[in-house]
This record gives sequence, structure tokens and C-alpha cells, in this order.
Amino acid sequence: MELDMAGDAALVTASSSGLGRASARALAREGVNVVMNGRDADRLESAVEDVQKDAASDATVVGEAADLTDPDDIESLVERPVEEFGGLDHLVTSAGGPPSGPFSETTDEDWYEAFDLLVMSVVRTVRAAEEHLKAGGGGTIVTIASGSVKEAIDGLVLSNSVRMGVIGLEKTLSKEFAPEVRANAVLPGSHETSRIEELVEQGVERGEYDSYEEGIEEWGEGIPTGGVGDPMHLGRTVAFLSSPQSGYVNGAAVPIDGGSSASNL
Ligand SMILES: NC(=O)c1ccc[n+]([C@@H]2O[C@H](COP(=O)([O-])OP(=O)(O)OC[C@H]3O[C@@H](n4cnc5c(N)ncnc54)[C@H](OP(=O)(O)O)[C@@H]3O)[C@@H](O)[C@H]2O)c1
Repeated sequence: MELDMAGDAALVTASSSGLGRASARALAREGVNVVMNGRDADRLESAVEDVQKDAASDATVVGEAADLTDPDDIESLVERPVEEFGGLDHLVTSAGGPPSGPFSETTDEDWYEAFDLLVMSVVRTVRAAEEHLKAGGGGTIVTIASGSVKEAIDGLVLSNSVRMGVIGLEKTLSKEFAPEVRANAVLPGSHETSRIEELVEQGVERGEYDSYEEGIEEWGEGIPTGGVGDPMHLGRTVAFLSSPQSGYVNGAAVPIDGGSSASNL
């Protein structure tokens, strides 16, 4: 199936690694011009090179270093695709993940920081992007959230709680911004990215696993399709949800988890 989006412009936040990078890669393979983002400029530059190499021949990939917890950085970030490509058709929002750990170990500051990173980053990015996304008539927003919004995950109280705000936002936007812009979310299960590597390493430090290998195997246990996912499983779904081929999908929150969630909905 052709996704019919070559020549469009996309911004993928927090995309110098992991699921954001996989989404940028999937879009660039379809001929979409992409702005990638992260805080560390060197890491971002090497991710841009990597995705550009893999892109369709007519797609351009550039990087804009910005911190998603800084409102001024977000303004400049959203302007980059407009300056570089003449507009912004597709916004994909990702972010770093909040720290793991039980409720009793969290402080007020942890909660506010998680809200700033996971919710306010999307609020501010969407606010800055709204007029550009609406201008083309086929705008899309895809938010990378987490399976934790359907099923709470042990030891991830901040993700379990704060991400619900993003889902409420995405659902509201799917009504308020339609028909010019569709808004959907993807809910990753376990995909082997540096975020998961970090969580597994933290589990090793807490004595939950003897080694990284044991931890990653345990994360993959019981997933019906077998093991932890490839980030491109999610990236390709993001590209589809951004494309006109998914034109009647709006306000959805799609699990990309190999069937691991036990939730009926
Ligand atoms: N991987 C999974 O299986 C999984 C499952 C459920 C949910 N998730 C969620 O999906 C999101 C992405 O996860 P991932 O696995 O792709 O993580 P990852 O591989 O660690 O990548 C995180 C990306 O976010 C960037 N980043 C972090 N904080 C940022 C900030 N303040 N401003 C700008 N960029 C920032 C990082 O670059 P810099 O550090 O250079 O800024 C990096 O590019 C996270 O919210 C995670 O919790 C992931």
C-alpha cells in the first residue's frame, strides 16, 4: 500500500533515539521531509545521518536540538519545518520517560517534572503547531504514549498516572481540530530502545534481575508474538496513522504491544 505522503513535512520530537527515531525513519522512507529532535546535539546529528541514509531519495532529514521542557525551545523547534520545508503537515510527539520506582519514593518535584515532560511538552508543541497543521487541510498528530494508560505497570507510578493527561488531550484534539487535523495515539508495549535498556539496568541495580540478558528476556516473556518488539513495528504504524490512508482513524489509542495487554479495550 502506498502511503501517499511523499513531499509532506513532519516534525518528530525526541527522535534522536528509540521510538521517535523509528517514526522519523518510517516517515522519511515514505518520502516525507523530517525534522528530528533531541537535546544532545551530537547524538542528534548522528541520528539524522542514519535516518537520511535510509530515506527515500527525495526526502530531506534535518535536526533541531531543543529541550521539550523549555517553552522557548519548543517555539523554535516548531518553526524549523516551516522555515526548512515551507510548512508542517505531521506532528509526532515523543519524549523521554519519567523515572521508574514506587509511589513512596516520589517527591512533589518528580510529579511536576513528569507532568512538564510528558504533558506540557505536547500541549506547547501542539499550540505552536496548530495553525501550520490546519493550513494544509490534511494535518495529523500522533502521540507516542505508553501501554501504561490501559494497564498500570508495576514500578512506573509516574508513567501510569501522568500519561493519562496526554490521552485526554489527544481525544479532545481529535474533536476540536477535525476535520483539518486528525489526532491519534500509539501505546507502545516493550520495544528494545535505550529507554527499555535503562529500565532493565535499573531493575538489575535493584536486584530484580541478575543480568541485562535475564531482564530483557523477562520483559519479553508472555508476549503473544514472542519477545520484546522492534522499534520499527511502532514507527511504521506512526507513518500509517500520519498518512491519508488512515483518513477515518481519529481519536484512537492504538496498542503496539504484540498482544501483551490483557485489556479488552
Ligand atoms: N521503548 C519502549 O518499549 C516504551 C514503552 C512504553 C513507553 N515508552 C515511552 O516512549 C517514549 C520514548 O521512549 P524510547 O524508548 O524511544 O526512549 P529513548 O530511546 O530513551 O529515546 C528518548 C529520546 O528522547 C529524547 N529526549 C529525552 N528527553 C528530552 C527532552 N527533554 N527534550 C527533547 N528530547 C528529549 C532523547 O534524546 P536526548 O537525551 O539527547 O534529549 C532521545 O532521543 C518515552 O516516553 C517512553 O517512556 C517506551
